[in-house]
This record gives sequence, structure tokens and C-alpha cells, in this order.
Amino acid sequence: MTYILDPAWHAEQARLENLADLYDQGTAAICDQLGLTSGWRCVDVGAGTGSVVKIFAERVGSEGHVLAVDTDPRFLEPLAGEPISVLTSDVTSNPLPTGFDLAHARLLLEHLPVAEAVIGSMVEAVRPGGWVVVEDLDWATALVVDPPSEAHERVIRACQELFTSTPYDANCGRKLPRMLRRAGLIDIGVRTTAMPLPADAELGQPAWEMLIDQLAPRLLSLGLLNQADLDAFHRLWHDGDSICLGPLMVSAWGRRPAEVARPAQARIR
Ligand SMILES: C[S@@+](CC[C@H](N)C(=O)[O-])C[C@H]1O[C@@H](n2cnc3c(N)ncnc32)[C@H](O)[C@@H]1O
Repeated sequence: MTYILDPAWHAEQARLENLADLYDQGTAAICDQLGLTSGWRCVDVGAGTGSVVKIFAERVGSEGHVLAVDTDPRFLEPLAGEPISVLTSDVTSNPLPTGFDLAHARLLLEHLPVAEAVIGSMVEAVRPGGWVVVEDLDWATALVVDPPSEAHERVIRACQELFTSTPYDANCGRKLPRMLRRAGLIDIGVRTTAMPLPADAELGQPAWEMLIDQLAPRLLSLGLLNQADLDAFHRLWHDGDSICLGPLMVSAWGRRPAEVARPAQARIR
């Protein structure tokens, strides 16, 4: 297990719900376009609060099945019941069950040094003709802010520095299409979305601020930032005027052909 975010952080559920609010609509649109419908069997890997699991459950109905997989099933367990089941599992060391029409993972692979092997596991989890959908961030757009802000730039650069000493890959998004191709998938598609994130005088900018609050103890203890930097960052995102782009969300998908030829070392066993 190499996950760099602390699942026990006091506001982790709110942070994950904020991400779901930003990205669920896009995820649903992609899966609908791939044919997600009544009776499908789906697995969501690293399912978090289960927002995508709920979307899948609405679509597949009682004829289908949705499996939610996570190392931390706290937020998923209350959702269990037809058509949803929950599996507590570390996908870096355990293979997934098989026979699915759709395997999906969002904001997971970017955390895993064995991303390619987990994609391999997802490919094996779907039936021939089934779809694999992976969605991860790429920090290519993380410095885009108007008006230009030293406070924002300092914090983003400190995070990027922190990531170099962790398994987190801030450029994971751009790598997804080639990883899917190398895993033997066909009919590969890609969509990118950079969310406009405005400062709000009352609410601040929750997506950025909750991530930075989560990482703050490590950023401070490594000397990458000081408290004045963090205070300036929070002031900026309450100024009611600034606007930035979130990191680029890269969504990539591909279909399993009748036969998948992959090297054995890419497998999780
Ligand atoms: C950033 S959250 C994303 C949640 C959800 N996919 C979403 O997009 O809203 C990453 C999730 O992956 C889970 N996770 C991290 N490492 C994992 C692993 N090795 N196996 C299974 N789940 C893992 C975490 O517990 C967390 O719920």
C-alpha cells in the first residue's frame, strides 16, 4: 500500500465528495456513451465515497451488478445491497474478480507505482468486448491562474517537489492512453477536462484548499512551505476574484479484444 493521502484525515469524506461533484457528470457521460445500461456488471476500483458506484447502480438496475473495491470501505459499506456489493481489497496485491462489462478507476492510478499492473488486472476483470475506463489528473494545468499569483505558484511548486519523494505521479493523466494500448486494449478514446475553479469570498476554493490542508503537515515538516505561505494561499482563494484551472483530468478508455496478449510480469497475482 502506497497511498499518499491520509484516509483518516478529519475532512477526507468532504474532500472526496468535492472531487465527485466536479467529475461525476463527465464520468457518467463517458460510460453512457460506451453503452452502460440495464443488466451490466461493473466494477469501480478505488471507489472512495461511492458516487460513481451509485451512478452505475442507477443505470444497471436490479438485473445488473456493481462491485465497489477499496482498501478503505468506510463510505461504501452503507451502500451495500442489490445491485451493489463491496469488496475490501488492495488492488496492488490482489487480482480483481472477473466477468465484468465495465471496469472503472478514477483518481487511483496516479497514486500507484504499479499503475500498469493494475490496468492489467482491470483488463483481465472485463469480458472480451468489455470496457476499461481510467481517469487521472495531470498537473499540466495546475499553475494556470488569473491574475498571476505568487501565493498559488509557491504552493503548487511545493506540492510538485513533495511528489518527487512519493509514489504519486503528477503526470499520470497524459500516460493513460499509451498504458491502455500497451495493455492490449482496442478502440481507445481520450477526453481531457480542466475545471475552472473560482475563488469564493465565503467558501474559498475547496478543491485546492482541502488538498493543501491534507498535505500541509508534510509540506511544513519538509520545509517546502511555511505557515505564512499557507495563510497567503488561503487568503488568495477567499478573495472572491481570482480564478484558476484545476489539474487536467484525463479520461481514457479502451475495449478488450477477444484475445489479450500481455507480458506475464505486468500481472498482479
Ligand atoms: C482519491 S480517492 C478517489 C475516489 C473515487 N474513485 C473518486 O474518484 O471519487 C482514491 C481512493 O482509492 C483508494 N485506494 C488507494 N489505494 C488503493 C489500493 N491499493 N487498492 C484499492 N483502493 C485503493 C482510497 O482508499 C480512496 O478511496
